[in-house]
Amino acid sequence: MKKCVLVSGGAGFIGSHVTVELLEAGYDVIVADNMSNCDMTCFEGVKKITGREDIPFVKMDFCDPVATELLFTTHEIDAVIHFAGFKAVGESVAEPLKYYRNNLESFINVIESAKAHGCGNILFSSSATVYGEPEKLPVTEESPRQPATSPYGNTKQMCEDILRDSVKAYSGIRGIALRYFNPIGAHPSALIGELPRGVPNNLVPFITQTAIGKRECLSVFGNDYPTPDGTCQRDFIDVVDLAKAHVFAVRRMLEDKMKNEYEIFNIGTGKPLSVMELINGFEKANSLKLNYKIAPRRPGDVTAIWADPTLANEELGWKAERDIEDTLAAAWAWEKHIAGE
Ligand code: WQD
Repeated sequence: MKKCVLVSGGAGFIGSHVTVELLEAGYDVIVADNMSNCDMTCFEGVKKITGREDIPFVKMDFCDPVATELLFTTHEIDAVIHFAGFKAVGESVAEPLKYYRNNLESFINVIESAKAHGCGNILFSSSATVYGEPEKLPVTEESPRQPATSPYGNTKQMCEDILRDSVKAYSGIRGIALRYFNPIGAHPSALIGELPRGVPNNLVPFITQTAIGKRECLSVFGNDYPTPDGTCQRDFIDVVDLAKAHVFAVRRMLEDKMKNEYEIFNIGTGKPLSVMELINGFEKANSLKLNYKIAPRRPGDVTAIWADPTLANEELGWKAERDIEDTLAAAWAWEKHIAGE
């Protein structure tokens, strides 16, 4: 019997890439999403990439405990990957209650129904944001979490804790938190990718929108950081590589290979890249020139963060493989695809 994975928030940027990888690895997938931050573009893209017209899709809100319960009653679910949540850092500062209610309630409902239906395998999409401004680089899973600087970041920490405590308290539940570094890029088919609403906050969507002429000029937020070229350093991880990590993690749970009932893995490349290096890489990969200027620092940005991915490499058997230029070419192909070029 094929195992079935529920992907909450599965119509979004990362969820859609994970759905593709799960289907290609032979799992059945149920996609559930309230569509609050996306349209059907990516779900339709998933169907095209995989050639599967029959992927179950449920439009629902995980903040609704009755709808969540109904989903678990009507489907045999073996594992859940929980993406559903709000993710705009700035908005979370302006509207903290919206973030706490949505991100915590939805996850609590998922765990509660999973528990009630004997579906004990829960994977949470966490973030490197939990490390704050790290004292030592690269960061390992043992590096201390720092107090969150935004309600969004705080919900990531709190959801990790909710999962950890649930695993401890209730038998039959185990959990994995994957801490993503900076997911970028798009599927090589250019049929799924990131679709930010309004002005993008993140670097790569801003770059591609500038390159295509939707934005006039990219602002590089600060070139006076104590880094080799003065711009911030990040661990940019290709979204397809990132998606594959989920397949390894799900398999680890379903095949009973976990060493602890609650495990955490960094999902990154282990290689820092500065904002300027990324811009140069984008220009080179796509043979174009980007209009950018140096602007003041953005409040809240950490100087540098990158992963030590050894644990994921050794325990999950997963490794980031895609070349950064391929990743940046895919991001550009996707931008052109949505512009209809
Ligand atoms: C990367 C670098 C900016 C835009 C955030 C969240 C994190 C996670 C991923 C997701 C920084 C610089 C950016 C621009 C720029 N959350 N930059 N000009 O801040 O590392 O992480 O996204 O849901 O939790 O905090 O990513 O892409 O916003 O920025 O110079 O127009 O690019 O200053 O140094 P960040 P980012």
